[in-house]
Formats: sequence, structure tokens, C-alpha cells
Amino acid sequence: MCEHFKLDKTTMKPWHATILTLFPEMFPGPLAHSIAGKSLEKNQWQLSTINIRDFAKDKHHTVDDTPYGGGTGLVMMADVVDEALCAAESAYAEQEQPQYIYVTPRGKPFTHDLARKLSKNSSGIIILCGRYEGIDDRAIEHWREEKGLIEVSIGDYVLSGGEMAALVLMDACVRLLPGVLVKEDATTSESFEEGLLEFSQYTKPRVWKDKAVPEVLLSGDHGKIAQWRLQSAKAITKERRPDLWGKHLI
Ligand code: ADE
Repeated sequence: MCEHFKLDKTTMKPWHATILTLFPEMFPGPLAHSIAGKSLEKNQWQLSTINIRDFAKDKHHTVDDTPYGGGTGLVMMADVVDEALCAAESAYAEQEQPQYIYVTPRGKPFTHDLARKLSKNSSGIIILCGRYEGIDDRAIEHWREEKGLIEVSIGDYVLSGGEMAALVLMDACVRLLPGVLVKEDATTSESFEEGLLEFSQYTKPRVWKDKAVPEVLLSGDHGKIAQWRLQSAKAITKERRPDLWGKHLI
């Protein structure tokens, strides 16, 4: 066996996701029922959770307080969140540089490109999930300044906490890790890899409710099938997502 390969296999740690949350029982949750769950069992990536409440300072385990300036709801306290992030950091070796992420509707939009970038970070990711009215912004600012924390949103709507956003983000990243999708081209033909939505897919029967599968897909001519699929992807992208289509044309 190649010595290099043996070395890598024994010394390289799998991609690791650490989730900071008030609800650790939400993980791996639905991920256990997908490719992410299977690859987690195979140790192709690792997941750990940190309960933010463990870093509360008082006997009631309080993690939040009323917002300065008034208003409804509670804000998670900076020192509690900061200590939870320090605990997450301490689990990594000094030379490791996990990407710190705070999931929030105020963040930059999560995209396939960002999922690809995060999946390539060999140290993995640390995701901070907020609840209530969010987190004291000074903790976020501090970790942005010190560790390059980024704020990421999974869409223009408000969820009741960051946990579901964290699950979405991990699912998208894990399926891009080397070896997770067995077929080499399983990710390269899917939506967004070429900046296009995926072409239409069909399976048996050939005719269903008077709707026939496009003839070319039954032809066995791989060149023509590839051409048809590209055309299908382009037409769907142009019609449904003019924003993506504009970028594809550049
Ligand atoms: N937390 C609450 N809503 C969110 C969203 N849309 N994206 C990321 N995190 C969130």
C-alpha cells in the first residue's frame, strides 16, 4: 500500500461540525435519515454539540435577559455565548482553523458555493444557533474580529431558532465531502454545480397519465442525452430563476 495514503488515513481527522445550541437533542435529528446520517455512522464526518446553557452563571441557568432600549423578547447574553464558543474552540488543535458561523436571518445568503467552501475546510465548522430575539451583538462582533466568524442566513424568513438552519447547512456541506456521494459525478451533474438548476428526470413507466418520457432519453445516445439535459437545465433556470440565469450568462 502507498505509504502516503496510509499516513493520511491514520493522521487525518474527519471533517467536524460543532453545534452550539440550547437544544442539543435536535441533532443529528433529520440528518440521521439521509446520506449525512449514513456517512456519520461511517465516521466520514463527525458531529458534536455544546449546550449553551451549561455556561450560564447563575443557579437558574439563565442564558438571556431583557434587551437594552426596551422591546419584547429576550436576548442571549454575551458572556454565556462567549464561554460556549471558547469551549468549542478548545476542542480543536491550535493549528486548526474551523470556520465559525452564526446562523441568523441577518447573515449573508447560504449558497452552494459557500457549502462547497465550507466542505473544503479540513478543520470543519462551528455553528452558533441563537434563540429568542438573538444574541448580544458584542459577542458576535468579538468572534468576528478574533476568529473571522461569519453570519449566514438560509433564506429571507425568520425561524424560531438557528437549529434548523444549522441542519440545512450541514446537510448541504456533508454531501460535498469526498467519498460521501459514492459516484464521482453525483454532485457535478446536480443543481447549482454549473450555476444551473437540475434538468428534468424521469423513470418507469415510459407513459404515465398520457405523459410520455422525452424520446431522446430512451435512445441510448449519450451525446444527445447530455445535450437534451443541458437544454432542459437552461430552460428551467431561465424560466424560474432569472437571477441565476443572468449570472450563468456572464
Ligand atoms: N435563524 C432564524 N431564522 C434564520 C434564517 N432564516 N437563517 C438562518 N438562521 C436563522
